[in-house]
Amino acid sequence: MRHFLTTVDWSREEIQGLLDRADELRKKPTGSQLAGRTIALLFMNPSMRTRTSFEVGAFQLGAHAVVLEPGKGAWGIEFETGLVMDGEAEEHIIEVAGVLSRYCDAIALRSFPLFKDWSIDRQDRVIKALARHASVPVINMETIVHPCQELALMRTIQDHLGRPDKRKFLLTWTWHPRPLNTAVANSALLIASKFAMDITLLVPHGDYLLDEQFMDIAYEQAESSGGSLDITTDIEAGYRDADFVYAKSWGALPFYGRPEDEAKLRESYRHFMVDEEKMAMTNQARFSHCLPLRRNIKATDAVMDADYCVALDEAENRLHVQKALMVELLQGR
Ligand code: CP
Repeated sequence: MRHFLTTVDWSREEIQGLLDRADELRKKPTGSQLAGRTIALLFMNPSMRTRTSFEVGAFQLGAHAVVLEPGKGAWGIEFETGLVMDGEAEEHIIEVAGVLSRYCDAIALRSFPLFKDWSIDRQDRVIKALARHASVPVINMETIVHPCQELALMRTIQDHLGRPDKRKFLLTWTWHPRPLNTAVANSALLIASKFAMDITLLVPHGDYLLDEQFMDIAYEQAESSGGSLDITTDIEAGYRDADFVYAKSWGALPFYGRPEDEAKLRESYRHFMVDEEKMAMTNQARFSHCLPLRRNIKATDAVMDADYCVALDEAENRLHVQKALMVELLQGR
């Protein structure tokens, strides 16, 4: 049985198979490939795109998606093992995984890190616990990585640039008033390195480097795929000749769980916001962001409204790639 917890477990050829199938499903969006199948969507955190694209995608292929929000209409869940459950959670992931595996053909989970202790959150324990106790495929809808977003991003890159190998991919940190999850940034590194892109990671300060477990995998994948990974704090060097600009804001890991201590450092990097002046330094690059995005905070109105902004294409591609993924994991079960 196959899970989709991280793209690290899937080869480039397997991912390309999903992207090719997504392209076919874009051309013929409805069918009965998943008639009679069911998928549980467990949301521990809010969502607009992920929830809508999974629900609509399941419907278009004849499946039914059940949305559950533990602690809000469904019982709160405990994920740690061996605890005396005298807190808020009414049931344990062992029973949740077991029960949903009896009802459904797959379980998808969104569970953001808790922003208290990165040494714990970096282990991605929650989705691993679900996968351990489920007897059906588990799909990651964002934890400390966001692999469904990776599929949509790579589908979008290929739609606009063609073959991604050796094209210059800029992953730039951008400003936001508070520290956000590193998941999408980790994921952007993982997918761009798997597909042999020449990556530049632009950060305002060394404290904004990503966790070494993802940096190391990105370096290894880049070496074996024929791509590259460079790091810079120089805005002009980062944007110069880029073919694809991907922006995301995230929290500095040395300050994890202490947002008030990071605030002063973060405040001095408002100028990392993506604007037309920076985009003019590129090789007529496309710009994208996973969304949601605060306008004139992370990127200007002019960038978001420009022809080169493909963020809506990427959001649409969530639908196509997740349908391809559900067909891969659910068909034939
Ligand atoms: N990009 C993304 O996952 O969007 P939502 O948080 O709205 O699902």
